[in-house]
Amino acid sequence: MAELVQRYLDEILAEHADVTDGALADYIPELTRVDPSKFGLALELTDGFAYESGDARTQFTIQSISKPFTYALALDRIGHDAVDRKIGVEPSGEPFNEISVDDRTKTPKNPMINAGAIAAVSLIPAADPQERFAQILDFYSACAGRPLDVDEDVYRSEKASNSRNRAIAYMLQSFGVLDDDPDDVLDVYVRQCAIRVTSRDLAEMASTLARGGVHPATGRRVTSAAAVQRTLSVMMTCGMYDTTGDWVTSVGMPAKSGVGGGILAVLPGQLGIGVYSPLLDENGNSVRGGRVCRTLSARLGLHFLSVTRESRSIIRATRDVAPRVRVYELHGDLLFAGAEQTLRTVENDRADVDVAILEVSKVDDINDTARAMLAGMRESLTAVGKEGYVVDPDRRVIPTDGRSAGAVVFGTVEDAIAAARDHVEIQAGSANRVG
Ligand code: DON
Repeated sequence: MAELVQRYLDEILAEHADVTDGALADYIPELTRVDPSKFGLALELTDGFAYESGDARTQFTIQSISKPFTYALALDRIGHDAVDRKIGVEPSGEPFNEISVDDRTKTPKNPMINAGAIAAVSLIPAADPQERFAQILDFYSACAGRPLDVDEDVYRSEKASNSRNRAIAYMLQSFGVLDDDPDDVLDVYVRQCAIRVTSRDLAEMASTLARGGVHPATGRRVTSAAAVQRTLSVMMTCGMYDTTGDWVTSVGMPAKSGVGGGILAVLPGQLGIGVYSPLLDENGNSVRGGRVCRTLSARLGLHFLSVTRESRSIIRATRDVAPRVRVYELHGDLLFAGAEQTLRTVENDRADVDVAILEVSKVDDINDTARAMLAGMRESLTAVGKEGYVVDPDRRVIPTDGRSAGAVVFGTVEDAIAAARDHVEIQAGSANRVG
């Protein structure tokens, strides 16, 4: 299996290797010194297993991919309400370096554009800029699973050519968004943008977000699930700037790009992706990086909405095992959408079926919502003289505690069928007597 996936990734990289469209970011002079031919890809599952292809160990500066991580850190440290008072969550439809605030609130429109990212830096509680940066670096390193460092040349280069961001920082101060000295805040922001990473680091950082804030290899929680959920939401709606709509449609993964050439993408609950190719399009997104993400999503079925489509196949098979008795074999993850589909199918079959037997021993995961829905299914069946049974030999899906109240559970399909036959007979008998 591992070789097969490795081959997919190598093939996808090779398909886009000849693309030379785009240009190096030149408004930060040091970024024009990188090798434009470098091309790397890494994909890491949430269990920590990683694939690498091409120049996946080449270092580059994280740039704007820093933004979601500092935002998550701010959410974690001071809470959502305090962050919301200073930074919005609405897509701006503007370039990343627009000198703008929301017309009504006079705060940055979102944390993925420079204005919002500079504000997010200022929200990390710290006694001084050094301590603030140390916290940021520690957090990024915890997500990457190794100590990261700063490319001092890129840091100095951006510092020396930073009028635009200075304009933004002073504007934010004038609107009361920044409480600290704008130049101090900006210095930390420029330093965080110059942190060095590889595609592999990005995949690991993405996988940490995919696992809701738990580092995939160490199992250590590095931030709260609530901070990650909020961060992924704004990545989804604002992460790719003015091309976000197209990205969500064609790639369907929360993502963030940086003018260093990196793209990080997250498939929640499943995996993280890091891609590097420094030639950028006019929006500041890596050209080959974007293409690789599109191909990966299409070929491996990674669009986040395909989860909904897959949930349609939660019923693997149905079998009529006796007159008016049908067995439904369920598999995969039984969450809301899968449970809803099961209930609707059973309901649609009601005219032909008196007893529905759900065989759930192949279900990998179930949540309390789905559990409650299965229990509720029996209630609505018994209300019309029918029955719903569950076959769950290990009681993994329907535990013996109060959460499964109302469910009738059997250890084997045979036992369930025997009970079902009795039920059908009794029903038929009482129908005859009435007749
Ligand atoms: O502040 C800047 O302009 C850069 N340090 C980061 C911008 C960036 O990466 C935009 N993303 N594509």
